[in-house]
Amino acid sequence: MHSLIYDFSTGILEDSEKKIGLIKRTIADTIDIYENKDVTTEKGKELAYFVQSHDPQPNIEGALQFGTSNLLPGDINGEFYMTKGHTHEIENRAEYYFGIKGNGLLLLMDENRNTKIEEVHSNSLHYIEGYVAHRLVNIGDTTLVVGACWNADAGHNYDAISEDGFSVRIMKSDNELGYEIRRGK
Ligand code: F6R
Ligand code: MN
Repeated sequence: MHSLIYDFSTGILEDSEKKIGLIKRTIADTIDIYENKDVTTEKGKELAYFVQSHDPQPNIEGALQFGTSNLLPGDINGEFYMTKGHTHEIENRAEYYFGIKGNGLLLLMDENRNTKIEEVHSNSLHYIEGYVAHRLVNIGDTTLVVGACWNADAGHNYDAISEDGFSVRIMKSDNELGYEIRRGK
């Protein structure tokens, strides 16, 4: 019998039919998003995050996709590890994120580059409206694990973010929060 298991305490997806996708991104794959891109070749080879996903009806209008993002802890020259960030290719497609483990921030930037920041932690729930660019930042010292559910036909558009970035950057700090919000572009 087909079994599809989601462990709600770890975010791990398991499918007896092995139809779980896996995307891995190294520091080098994502280095362009950081303000100071100065890293060694060795550092570039390290894993920044991986995403497991279940996509039984790829690109079908009305279908859903489900996944877990695992963002490692660390920083690049004082800027916390983060996902590339994107809007959806079909821009009106919304998405839910939910926190499973670790401590992070979700950056939500609208079309006018106004950014809202939500704290991500175990049991936090986040509704991402269509047209809104979204990025996870790991501000903790353990892997940030975040579940997500979105439209299977949404797609990803990385272009605008890779060109203009977000309007804020999350930097390491000695203050009581451990991070500081800085203006981006
Ligand atoms: C799907 C979604 C997440 C991200 C994942 C990696 O629409 O938002 O599954 O794809 O967190 O982030 P990116 O895609 O920005 O590298
Ligand atoms: Mn998305």
